[in-house]
Amino acid sequence: MRVLLIGGGGREHAIAEAVARSLNNPELFAAMSKKNPGIARLCKDFLLKKETDPEVVNYAIKNKIELAIIGPEAPLAAGIPDLLLRAGIPVVGPRRLAAQIEFDKAWTRDFMKKHGISGCPDFKVFRKGESGTDEFIDEIGGVVIKPAGLTGGKGVRVMGDHFGIEGAKAYAKEVLKNDDVVIEERLIGEEFTVQAFVDGENLSFAPAVQDHKRAFDGDMGPNTGGMGSYNDSGDILPFMKESDYNDAKKIMCETVRAIKKETHVAYQGILYGQFMATAKGISVIEFNARFGDPEAMNVLPLLENDFLEVCLNIVNGTLGNINVKFKKQATVCKYAVPAGYPDDPVKDSIVEIGNMKESLLFYSSVYEKDNKIYTTGSRALAVLGISDTIGDAEKKAQAGLSGLKGMLHSRRDIGTDELIMKRKQHMKELRAN
Ligand code: AMP
Ligand code: GLY
Repeated sequence: MRVLLIGGGGREHAIAEAVARSLNNPELFAAMSKKNPGIARLCKDFLLKKETDPEVVNYAIKNKIELAIIGPEAPLAAGIPDLLLRAGIPVVGPRRLAAQIEFDKAWTRDFMKKHGISGCPDFKVFRKGESGTDEFIDEIGGVVIKPAGLTGGKGVRVMGDHFGIEGAKAYAKEVLKNDDVVIEERLIGEEFTVQAFVDGENLSFAPAVQDHKRAFDGDMGPNTGGMGSYNDSGDILPFMKESDYNDAKKIMCETVRAIKKETHVAYQGILYGQFMATAKGISVIEFNARFGDPEAMNVLPLLENDFLEVCLNIVNGTLGNINVKFKKQATVCKYAVPAGYPDDPVKDSIVEIGNMKESLLFYSSVYEKDNKIYTTGSRALAVLGISDTIGDAEKKAQAGLSGLKGMLHSRRDIGTDELIMKRKQHMKELRAN
């Protein structure tokens, strides 16, 4: 089966590995803007082009692709799935109208309210140039300011973390010069992610994962694309209640149904729900129309089904006929990023990959020249430990990281007993009040 993977990061390397493990005779093709050495090694052929370039569609046609899988959000926002479908190529990745759930935060909040989807915080959308933000911020108190469009996870600012009330007011006005803005209630709690395969109607859920957005240990420093993530050996994380996971699943099912009602497009692909577990239950922070990066690396290696089989059931609308299962194991994923990332990353510096011990290695934003691996300005390599407990998986990830040499930085604390205890304690205190 001829499969085209679009995207060239760590998430896509994890997808490529899952495709390569398939017994459906996969022949993998890739379209990526830079040559990811991990993906390139698994490919029969690849195209070096921006993932949003319609040339990707011609490449798919020329290579008689039978199934396309979209990794990142940019090609979804550019409507690449719509073009592929028009050419008769089935796609794992929603069409543009359905992908709005990720690339237009203003649309999404209005949509949730209109369809009565639970877990929507208090919010108000302000259109580009509109006034009245100061009054709304005064009314709500603790707020989060979100540019409506895609910002690579770096445009959202949280009052209390990033600035006080005057800073929030100024930032809202600054964003409004160029974009619509969502101002919403600041939620207090612990975040978790649930990813699902969606065939337009049926959803199959992966275990919950927790990502770490901040650059440095102790959740300090600027926001990043995600420094690392973990999951436990069951569906829930140590700080979660079973009901948090079930509520998240229910919200995601409601959302898929409502998208079809609202857009008349069936959502086929991956749906990523990001939630905050709070003292009052769970709320939706955002939806993404794709796997998370790093969260894909936690769950795909645990998938017991043949990944291509799952993909075929997604595009055929027959996911209800199979039982999607994940191994009951814990994983810890840690990103090695260039020193100085995200504000002032060291670019074009050599990384040596030594003994990765018992960990799995995923290539992200690195490039290969004369048989050497170099950093770019983004997250470079991800290391994954898998074991029966989070603590053991963390040790394996850490052992793997010690096999990487170069001007790199990673978070020591992700997945450690100490941080897991802190998260549990935080939730316990919130629930007690
Ligand atoms: P987003 O790009 O929407 O995922 O937001 C980036 C980060 O901002 C999230 O991972 C949260 O840590 C934080 N955030 C977003 N919305 C809220 C909210 N309503 N309350 C508290 N934190 C939030
Ligand atoms: N790790 C967060 C994301 O992929 O959006």
